[in-house]
Amino acid sequence: MSKRHWCYGVFICIAGGAAVLVLAIAIGVGVYIHQFCGTQTSNSRSALQIFQDEFKRLQEDFPEQSQNLWLRSGKMMTNHLNKSHPDEPATIILTAAQDAKHTLLCLASGLAQTYAFALNSSWLVIHGPSQAKYDDSTAKLNIDEKLSSGFESRHRAAVLNHLETLPPGSLLILYKYCDHENAAYKKVALVFTILLEDSSLEPDTPLPELEEKVRDFLWKQFIHSGTSRSHQEMDSDKLGGVWSRISHLVLPVFPVERIEAGNCPFDLE
Ligand SMILES: *[C@@H]1O[C@H](CO)[C@@H](O)[C@H](O)[C@H]1NC(C)=O
Ligand SMILES: *[C@@H]1O[C@H](CO)[C@@H](O)[C@H](O)[C@H]1NC(C)=O
Repeated sequence: MSKRHWCYGVFICIAGGAAVLVLAIAIGVGVYIHQFCGTQTSNSRSALQIFQDEFKRLQEDFPEQSQNLWLRSGKMMTNHLNKSHPDEPATIILTAAQDAKHTLLCLASGLAQTYAFALNSSWLVIHGPSQAKYDDSTAKLNIDEKLSSGFESRHRAAVLNHLETLPPGSLLILYKYCDHENAAYKKVALVFTILLEDSSLEPDTPLPELEEKVRDFLWKQFIHSGTSRSHQEMDSDKLGGVWSRISHLVLPVFPVERIEAGNCPFDLE
């Protein structure tokens, strides 16, 4: 071999080696990108999948509910979880008559837990009656602190139990959390419960009628009750503003005997 040929040989070897190296790096990067992106999609798919599986299980814990309850709450939460950047929180009002008092909180907790579980997170409950002894602004501050510290940490869902028992003016904090565009936290679910004074609910009450019933009840509680509770903070216009932000979906809860007897499968604290 002449010196020149030898030089060509070495050159080809080096060039070939470099080409193989570049190819190997390209393949490695490709595999990495593929795996990384693949994991991303399978993660977001699984949050929905987790929700749908858990939601089926939830329905088994609460027999004898209306079809509307499961269809509509399921759809609202599925759509919400399916958006990477929802423009408002998922907001649901559950209502019941006195005969379903325990089932109401239990089911609200179940919904909150199911939503939170799909996002590998936790949920919290704020009990209206625990705030009833405070004045408007103190109760408002308490609710604000609980929700924001919850959502800033591991919580993605909250139950506000017995909305009807809150000091009227404290409801104004819901402007901050439930506004259609400016809600402080959007990838969260808020479940409100409202316990009506009726002893039981007609199973076939149409939803618009139920919504009107709940609305009238809140107005009676907060605007027309004529009790000594401070009302200077709340009037019909402001309550209308709160109502329009929280009343996307008003759904009935019916009693489950086992749960009314005190056996709720969810932790209520
Ligand atoms: C989730 O969103 C995608 C695209 O926006 C849509 O094709 C799909 O049907 C949605 N899935 C569910 C379960 O709603
Ligand atoms: C779920 O959350 C916990 C605690 O925040 C974390 O350690 C864990 O990695 C998360 N799991 C998934 C699948 O994201």
